[in-house]
Amino acid sequence: MRYDFDKVVERRNTNSTKWDSVAALFGSEDVLPLWVADMDFRIPQPIIDAISERIKHPVFGYTRVSSSTIDAVLERLETKYGWKVSPEAVIVTPGVVPAVNAAVKAYAGEGGAVVVQSPAYPPFWATGPNNKVRTVTNLLRLEGGRYEMDFDALERAFAESGAKAMILCSPHNPVGRVWTREELVKLGEIALKAGAVVISDEIHCELIYKGFKHVPFASISPEFAANSVTCFSPSKTFNIPGMHCSVAIIPDEELRKRFNEARSGIQGSPDFLAVIAMEAAFRYGDEWLEQVMDYIEGNLEFLIKYMEERIPAIKPIRPEGTYLVWLDCRGLGIDDPKELQRFFSEKAKVGMNAGYTFGPGGEGFMRMNIACARSILEEALKRIEEAVKLL
Ligand SMILES: Cc1ncc(COP(=O)(O)O)c(C=O)c1O
Repeated sequence: MRYDFDKVVERRNTNSTKWDSVAALFGSEDVLPLWVADMDFRIPQPIIDAISERIKHPVFGYTRVSSSTIDAVLERLETKYGWKVSPEAVIVTPGVVPAVNAAVKAYAGEGGAVVVQSPAYPPFWATGPNNKVRTVTNLLRLEGGRYEMDFDALERAFAESGAKAMILCSPHNPVGRVWTREELVKLGEIALKAGAVVISDEIHCELIYKGFKHVPFASISPEFAANSVTCFSPSKTFNIPGMHCSVAIIPDEELRKRFNEARSGIQGSPDFLAVIAMEAAFRYGDEWLEQVMDYIEGNLEFLIKYMEERIPAIKPIRPEGTYLVWLDCRGLGIDDPKELQRFFSEKAKVGMNAGYTFGPGGEGFMRMNIACARSILEEALKRIEEAVKLL
């Protein structure tokens, strides 16, 4: 089936975080929301069909995840990445953020430390305080318009802090890097040497632009697999984040046990519709996914050209994956990070995530979500262009 992503889907009054929080967050209803990471697009029809079939049954009890759903996860990892995972390694979790929190609690341990590479997805910064764990920052380096990991600093961070866990964001939100195998090997070796578990958040791994390839961290070697937790989910890929369903892949039995202890009594069984959606997405969602990625890539090219030609003071960092674009706004000359955010929401009337909320290194940047109809993106860019002219 052919999907029409140019069609604007009205999302107001659907309990949408993105659209129905606009006035509360950005001060007025006429702000265009290009912030939180969900897409404005309708989801794949096979997911709607599978859920519709299930709700014909009138009992909505607790969920036991079927082996067919687990098989769908395993088959996907094998066909997409050649990564063979055994069913025992898979734990179904009610979202990646809860899984990352459980992993930080399990492996960094109370009073211990976790390393986060900054700028980083804001909930990563909360995992330390949530679990009485210190957060150690390792800054990513922006070089020639591309972010790189600072491996020397990473080694020092482990040595100085004694951290026993690190969060890897792969692909990296907000900077859009799809880490190469070489980079992941270096990181994995440093973590092994430090005796630190790698918590690899791979939620964006299927949203990859042409010319780049995602390598699951744990697929690189049995040693890396035994020293990691991979958080994987259909939610970003197929635009079902409101369903809160994900998996944690933990091949090592001892690490699995500690993870389950850390979440015991806190995370319940997954939502009954979400597991159905996950299976349908993984089995039948690819036709939609190919089309949506083509569309998003078109949006990315549109944005880059528009900014180069008409808003040169803002420099988009070209992402290799994710539908999130990290905008370098330092050329606007607005030094106060909160004022920068206000400039966009109050003057341009475009709601984006402020860079400073992503931690050190995020000041002077904004994150734009381009998973919307091109007409909305164009309108947002026009508004920004007009506001910049008046600066
Ligand atoms: C890197 C990353 N991890 C996790 C999440 C959210 O995961 P979940 O909704 O499954 O808790 C997001 C959402 O934007 C994300 O960007």
